[in-house]
Amino acid sequence: MVIERSEAHEFLVSRTAFVDPSVLDAERREIFDRCWLYLAHISEIPQANDFLTRSVGGRELLLARDRKKVIHAFFNTCPHRGAMVEREKSGNKLGFQCFYHGWAFNNNGGFATRYRRGDYPEGFNADGCKNLTAVPRLEEYRGLLFVNFDASAPPLVEYLGPAAAYINLVLDHSAEGMEICGGTHEYSIKANWKLLVENSIDGYHALATHSTYFDYLTEHLGPETMVAERSPHVGRHHDGPFDLGNGHAVVSSGPSPWGRPVAHWIPAWGDVGKAEVERRRAQLHERFGPERGDLIASWNRNMIIFPNLVINDIMAVTLRTFYPLAPDLMNVSAWALAPTDETPEFRGYRLENFLEFLGPGGFATPDDQEALESCQRGYRNAINAGWNDISKGMSRRHFHGDDEEQMRCFWREWAKRLGEGTRE
Ligand code: FES
Ligand SMILES: [Fe+2]
Repeated sequence: MVIERSEAHEFLVSRTAFVDPSVLDAERREIFDRCWLYLAHISEIPQANDFLTRSVGGRELLLARDRKKVIHAFFNTCPHRGAMVEREKSGNKLGFQCFYHGWAFNNNGGFATRYRRGDYPEGFNADGCKNLTAVPRLEEYRGLLFVNFDASAPPLVEYLGPAAAYINLVLDHSAEGMEICGGTHEYSIKANWKLLVENSIDGYHALATHSTYFDYLTEHLGPETMVAERSPHVGRHHDGPFDLGNGHAVVSSGPSPWGRPVAHWIPAWGDVGKAEVERRRAQLHERFGPERGDLIASWNRNMIIFPNLVINDIMAVTLRTFYPLAPDLMNVSAWALAPTDETPEFRGYRLENFLEFLGPGGFATPDDQEALESCQRGYRNAINAGWNDISKGMSRRHFHGDDEEQMRCFWREWAKRLGEGTRE
């Protein structure tokens, strides 16, 4: 399904990969049941006894901090006869009670049901089999919580590999730490999940698909909005996509044409905004030196952590994950990540940016959704018009930001895991 012809600089993906139910079965088995999947950010359950429920990788999960503040991830299913033990999205509780027959559990997962003598034998739960079932692996990378349904998977840091250093460029926005602000954006797209992987790291489509947004910025905020703030410290060598290994990839470019609340000023923010940006940028320089400091402040980066976590660090920071319900349908969840010590003005700019461009009702997401659903409809012709071309820039020695190398990184890993690649 994936053909790479290095000599001919050609990279093709079969459209079967987007429509065939047996491909989705294989993806569930070989990818979603084996890879590290993003679950939540630690700031979403800050206090003892906080919990949240979430669908991840086709499972229903319950993430809980117990009374000692230890974090647990359980399968949200009752050991009795299977009902979901927690039905709220989030809250704070000492334990969970299944609504069906009333079995109860502590928030460390321990069985806590009262029953009459004779209902069950002595030592009914002696081996813990009536406790909530923990997810085989739960690991944290600097506040990002991931799960893995394969007990023998390599450790998360090993899986992230060089991608961790790029994630740091996002998590280092503030010395005080990062937090999810507000709730979750949830929406569905009638398209294959891999189309959203491609789209999330696709520099090629921006000007064509999102012309409305660029027109809007120019009209409402003045043409100077799009004037890039030049920095003497950052050279061109940071441009272009990078293969981060294991199917992870990043495309970064800068300096940013739009304001970045972390520390990249635009005239629309005025002198007060300028002073705040300079203060924050000076902090970054102090922590990381001018080059890395400016990279964090002024550069945009779109990242895919294989298979389905997107980190877009652009005019706001989005964490986005998605899961296929069918070959042509996915559910998407997205969150805004921000420095905990942001001023109210800058938090305002950030949330405006988030809604305006990244949100499901913004200037970009509906355009992207339309493009993805259009591709999926186009794949109805897959039997007669069967191949996607993902070759842009293959003949170059140094890739450009709007090349398709970052997508090829994803597809190579996908093909490796499914045994579907051919290299010539
Ligand atoms: S299914 Fe939960 S108590 Fe029966
Ligand atoms: Fe887009």
